[in-house]
Amino acid sequence: MTNILITGSLGQVGSELIDYLLASYGGTIYVTDVQKEPKIRENSRINYEFLDVRDREAVDNIIRNRNIDEVYHLASILSATGEKDPYLAYNVNLTGTVNVLNACVTRDVKKVFIPSTIGVYGPEVQKENAPIRHNSIPTTMYGITKFTTEMLSQYYFNKYNLDVRSLRYPGLLSYKVAPTAGTTDYAVDMIKHAAQGNLYECYLKEETKLPMLYMPDAMKATLRMMTSPQESIRIRTSYNVMAYSFSPKELEEEVRKLNPDFNVKYNPDFRQKIADTWPYSINTEDAVKDWNFKPEYDLKATVADMFKNFKNQSI
Ligand SMILES: NC(=O)c1ccc[n+]([C@@H]2O[C@H](COP(=O)([O-])OP(=O)(O)OC[C@H]3O[C@@H](n4cnc5c(N)ncnc54)[C@H](O)[C@@H]3O)[C@@H](O)[C@H]2O)c1
Repeated sequence: MTNILITGSLGQVGSELIDYLLASYGGTIYVTDVQKEPKIRENSRINYEFLDVRDREAVDNIIRNRNIDEVYHLASILSATGEKDPYLAYNVNLTGTVNVLNACVTRDVKKVFIPSTIGVYGPEVQKENAPIRHNSIPTTMYGITKFTTEMLSQYYFNKYNLDVRSLRYPGLLSYKVAPTAGTTDYAVDMIKHAAQGNLYECYLKEETKLPMLYMPDAMKATLRMMTSPQESIRIRTSYNVMAYSFSPKELEEEVRKLNPDFNVKYNPDFRQKIADTWPYSINTEDAVKDWNFKPEYDLKATVADMFKNFKNQSI
C-alpha cells in the first residue's frame, strides 16, 4: 500500500491526476489544498484535508501523521497570477516547495513529483527545440521560482538522496477543470468558445507559437516517469515534454474545421509579454530515451476530443 499526498490538488492538474493515481496505486490519497470545504467526490480511498504549503509545521505534520510514501507537489501560483502578485508566487512556489522537500527528507518519503514549466526559459531562449539545459534566465516571478525549484530538486537529490522527479510541462489542454491563470489558457478557452458557438477574444497575438500537450498524455507521462526505475531517471532538474506546437491562428483554423462559423478577435494583453519569453517548442529526446515518453494525441485528435466534450457539457 502506498499513501500519497497531493498538494494543490484542486487545480487543473490535480483534479485529473487523482484518477490516474487511484488506478495505479493501492493506498489512500490525501488530497489537500487551501479551500476549506471543497466538493470532493465520495471515495473511501480519497481523504481531503486543508493544507497551506507555506505552513512548514502543517506540511511536516501531515506527512508524518498520514505515513505518506509519495508526494505529488502541485501547489503553485501560475504565470499570470504570479505577475499580478509576485510576493505570493514567491512564497507559495519557493517557501512552500522547500517546506515540502524538507519534510520529505525528515519523514523518509520515498518519491516526490514536482512539475516544472516552460516558464523556466527566458527571452533569449533558443525558440525552436529548446534544450533542457539552457542559459536563458527567466524574467517572470513564476519562471524564477520554478527555475529555482528545478535547482532545489536536483540539490535535494544530490545532498539527501531524495528521489525527486519532475516534468517540465508545456501548456496543458483539458476540458474537465478550467485552467486558472496561466499564459497558455487561451487554447482551452478558444476550443470551449468554438464548441459553445461563441466569439472568442484572444489575449495573445495570432502568431505566438507555444508548445502544448493534452492532459491524458501529460498524466500518462507523469505516471510513466514516476513508476520508472530510479536508475533510469538521469535528469533531476526536469524533463521536457510536449506533443505539438501551434499559434492561436493555427488553433483557430483547426477549430474552424469543426465549427465553420467560429470567429476570433485578437486583443493582446500583459500575457503577451510573458509568452514572448517562452520557446515555440522544446526538445523531448531525454524523456523518450530514459522512460519512453510517447504522447498519443496530435493536435487534430486533441481538438476533436475537447470540442466534443465541451459541446456535451453545454447541452
Ligand atoms: N496547467 C498548466 O498548463 C501547467 C503548465 C506547466 C506547469 N504546470 C505546473 O503544474 C502544477 C499544477 O498546476 P495547475 O495547472 O494544476 O495549477 P492550478 O492553479 O490549477 O492549481 C494549483 C492549486 O494550488 C493551490 N494553491 C495555491 N496556493 C496554495 C497554498 N499556499 N497551499 C496549497 N495549495 C495552494 C490552488 O488553490 C490550486 O488549486 C504547478 O506546479 C504548475 O506550475 C501547469
